Amino acid sequence: MTWKKWKTHFEANAKRPLPEVSVEGLSPAQRRALLRSLQIFQIGETGEGRIAHQIDQVTLPGIDADYRAALKLFVKEEGRHAGILARAVLALDGQLLKHAWAAKAFTHARQWVGVRFKLLVLLVAEVIGIAFYGLISRALPGRGLKAALAQLCDDEEQHLRFHCQFFAAQAVNPLSHALLRLAWWPLALAAGLAVLWDHRAALRGFHIGIGAAAGAMLQRVRESARLMQGPATARLRQAVR
Ligand SMILES: [Fe+2]
Ligand SMILES: [Fe+2]
Repeated sequence: MTWKKWKTHFEANAKRPLPEVSVEGLSPAQRRALLRSLQIFQIGETGEGRIAHQIDQVTLPGIDADYRAALKLFVKEEGRHAGILARAVLALDGQLLKHAWAAKAFTHARQWVGVRFKLLVLLVAEVIGIAFYGLISRALPGRGLKAALAQLCDDEEQHLRFHCQFFAAQAVNPLSHALLRLAWWPLALAAGLAVLWDHRAALRGFHIGIGAAAGAMLQRVRESARLMQGPATARLRQAVR
C-alpha cells in the first residue's frame, strides 16, 4: 500500500462512529480483572502525540509528506482507542488511571533514542494490542465491548502493517535489516513477557492460557520480523537460495 493509500485508510477510519462498550454476563472477579487491564491499556493508548511532530523534523529513507500525514492520523486513531477504552472503564464502574508502570516504561523507551526506535516501540504495542484485544474480545460474552475490542484488534492489525512497511523502507541494506532485527526481538520479547505478567489476572479470569497468549504474541513478533524485511534483504536471500 502506498503512503497515500494509508492516509486515505486512516481518514476513512476516523469517520466511524464510536462503538458501544456495554458489557454484561461477567462474574464480579471477571469485571475486576477486565477493568484493571482496560485501565492500563487506556493509558497506553494515550500520549503518542509527540512522534507526529518529530517526524516532520527528520529525513528518513522511503517516507514522504503522505507518510507524515498518515502518521499523524495514526496517532489520532490511537487517541480514538483511548477514548473507547475510557468509556469501557467507566461502563465497568471504574476510574481512569493517571499512571501505570507499563505505560510509563513504554513512554521512557519511546523517549530513549530517535524516531525509529520510538516507532519500533509503537510496533511492539501493536503486537501486544492485537493479542490482548483479540483474546479478550473472543472470550467476552454479548456484543458491545466484545465488538469494540474486535474493532481495536482490527485497527492494530493495520497499524502493524503500516509500521512494518515503514521499517521495510528503512532496511535499505542487509546490515540495517540485521540491526533492526537485533533491536526488535529482545524488545518485543521483553515487552511481551511484561504484559503477560501484568495482565495475568484478566487472562486467568477469562480462562485464556498463558501459553495461548504467549503464542499469539510470538506469532505477531515473527510476522513483524518477516514484514520488516526490506527489498535489499529479500534480494540477498533469493541470491543465497
Ligand atoms: Fe491502539
Ligand atoms: Fe495501534
